[in-house]
Amino acid sequence: MKQGDPMSRRQFMEVTVAGAAVAGVARSGSPAALSMPADTKLNVGVIGAGIRGLQDMESLLRTGANVAMVCDLYDGHLRRAQEIQANTPTTKDYHQVLSRKDIDAVLIATSDH
Ligand SMILES: NC(=O)c1ccc[n+]([C@@H]2O[C@H](COP(=O)([O-])OP(=O)(O)OC[C@H]3O[C@@H](n4cnc5c(N)ncnc54)[C@H](O)[C@@H]3O)[C@@H](O)[C@H]2O)c1
Repeated sequence: MKQGDPMSRRQFMEVTVAGAAVAGVARSGSPAALSMPADTKLNVGVIGAGIRGLQDMESLLRTGANVAMVCDLYDGHLRRAQEIQANTPTTKDYHQVLSRKDIDAVLIATSDH
C-alpha cells in the first residue's frame, strides 16, 4: 500500500494497533498515512455486556460506531444490549465475535476472574 491509498477499516486498525505497539511511531508517524474516509463506520464487537460493557457500548454508539455483535453468557444482558441497539446480533460464544472478518475492533469487558 502506498501512502495516500485508501485503506479498509481492518487495515486501519491493524496499522494503528501495530503502530501504537512500537514506541515513538505515533509521535513521529505521518497522520496522513493512517487516514481513512471520514464517513467510515467502525464495526465493533462487545464481549462481556455487564455494567462496564454496556456502558462502553453506549459510548461507542455515541461516537457513531456500529456494534456488530454482542457476546455474554447471561440472557438478561443480551436483551439489554438489544434494547440499547435494536436487532444487534448476540451470541454466548465469543469465538463468533472474534471470527467475524467485518468486525474491526473488539471491546472485552468480562469479569476479572
Ligand atoms: N463496573 C465498573 O464500574 C467498572 C469500571 C472500570 C473497570 N471495570 C472492569 O470491567 C470489567 C467488567 O466489570 P463489570 O462491572 O462490567 O462486571 P459484570 O459482572 O457486570 O460484567 C461482566 C460480564 O461478563 C460476562 N462474561 C463473563 N465471562 C464471559 C464469557 N466467557 N463470555 C462472555 N461473557 C462473559 C458476564 O456474564 C457479565 O455479564 C472488569 O474487568 C472490571 O474490573 C468495571
